Amino acid sequence: MSKILQIWSLSKTFPGQVALHEATFDVEEGEVHALVGQNGSGKSTLIKVLAGFHQPDPGHHVTMRDEAFDIGNAQAAQAAGIRFVHQDLGLVEAVSAVENLALGFGYRTGFGRRIKWREETKRAKQALLDLGFDINVRVPVAALGGAARTGVAIARALQDADQNISILILDEPTASLPGADVDRLFEAVRRLKARGISVVFVSHHLEEVFEIADRVTVLRDAKVVATKNTSELDMASLIELIVGHKVTAASIDRQIDQSAAPRLEVRGLIGMGLSDVSFEVRPGEVLGVAGLTGSGRDTLIPSLSGAIDRLGDVLVDGAPLKAGDPSTSIASGLAFVPADRLRNGIISLMSVRSNTTLADVKRNKTGLRLNHKKEKAETNDWIRSLSVVTTGSEAPISTLSGGNQQKVMMSRSFRLNPKVLLLDEPTQGVDIGAKEEIHTFVDSAAASGSAVLVASTDSAELARLCDRVIVMHKGAIVDTVLRNGGSGASSMAERIDQVLLAGSSLVAHN
Ligand SMILES: Nc1ncnc2c1ncn2[C@@H]1O[C@H](COP(=O)(O)OP(=O)(O)OP(=O)(O)O)[C@@H](O)[C@H]1O
Ligand SMILES: [Mg+2]
Repeated sequence: MSKILQIWSLSKTFPGQVALHEATFDVEEGEVHALVGQNGSGKSTLIKVLAGFHQPDPGHHVTMRDEAFDIGNAQAAQAAGIRFVHQDLGLVEAVSAVENLALGFGYRTGFGRRIKWREETKRAKQALLDLGFDINVRVPVAALGGAARTGVAIARALQDADQNISILILDEPTASLPGADVDRLFEAVRRLKARGISVVFVSHHLEEVFEIADRVTVLRDAKVVATKNTSELDMASLIELIVGHKVTAASIDRQIDQSAAPRLEVRGLIGMGLSDVSFEVRPGEVLGVAGLTGSGRDTLIPSLSGAIDRLGDVLVDGAPLKAGDPSTSIASGLAFVPADRLRNGIISLMSVRSNTTLADVKRNKTGLRLNHKKEKAETNDWIRSLSVVTTGSEAPISTLSGGNQQKVMMSRSFRLNPKVLLLDEPTQGVDIGAKEEIHTFVDSAAASGSAVLVASTDSAELARLCDRVIVMHKGAIVDTVLRNGGSGASSMAERIDQVLLAGSSLVAHN
């Protein structure tokens, strides 16, 4: 195979931080090349330099099809046929998929330069269908689910695919996608590869690397530590390359007092995509929620936290919570970490410190005044214990990598010492080392008596964390998988997958 893009000694320094140090990277024609590494290791920086979003430090050498390539220049990347889907997707939320596609390409106009909406709509619909996404292209993108939004971003990047696209670069396209949608995306990737287009993709889901990538490049602490054929690697050695040491998941050993009064009680919950859901979680217990997109898994935690409307009773230590009122819920001891935190939780103009402490600033008051020194010290403790990569508590949160912003959101809830902790996709976009750190925190929240509810599309994560997992289908609980139930050899994760699979053929996709 011939190399189309070759990069030597590419560096990028931000004030106080080397994000990329003398990186060497190349892309072969028609290959799928995975780019992996811990949060803050420099993956998005490499991509953003290539896209012309950042200017590289001097000293690099880059060629495209053996000719000198002006890296750091958006027009040069465009002209060379390199297309990008960035980590935050970069969609215009208030307008439809049709308009998002047209914005990147130019509207078709007819007589009198009127926009041909019918044609635009047909074209957008077809572009998404080609990628396997059958969605409503006329509603605002903000109203679409994660999978559909990713589809729109990819369709937009590819819409001039007939014009010499050489490389498609996807920064964590699967971070918020459940399994079935990942399969669909990979189908699209295989189709591109068959057409000779190279695909570079970033993922923290290492099983995806083995499933679809021909080669993998590992970044650690801003340096490329290896580029290998995936056929020469196994999971354990890839993890070791990424983290720099071996990682072992803790096995949990919880004693739950079944006679204790439930910390969280949910009775007859009705809400968006939910019909009559009831369950209880005891102190020290971790209850998982599994289900496909649209099953109710994805709306259960938002309706409990008050983010979306509900009917029915939710009680914390026997006291009913008012629906649709997140701030009294927090005061009653309920803390939550929303999914899609980059959209829903991060306040991007504020510092790491303010983002950490904002749900309870009282703790660091001396008299009536906020004690910044105490806040800083507390924030720095959290930065250390979750290994957040940042220059410190005062850094604007927008300068942190995606995964590190998420860790800050986790610490915002963990520090409340809640009676009930609701976690929606707690390790989405989080690297393999940080994932175990977050899991250990969940263990310790349970050990200190919190009742924890975890919704996740990752069955292995549910098996790692939960004592029980409820499986949802069409808005109702259809099954419960117990840690200590089930037969002999099949692991808890396999049992969850079996139940999910049994229902999946019935579920229409959104
Ligand atoms: N605009 C910026 N200003 C200052 N520092 C930045 C900026 N963008 C990124 N950095 C720093 O550069 C480093 C690399 O960040 P990058 O976004 O490339 O990480 P990443 O590998 O993509 O991580 P993740 O898996 O979390 O997305 C981080 O430590 C980050 O804090
Ligand atoms: Mg990134």
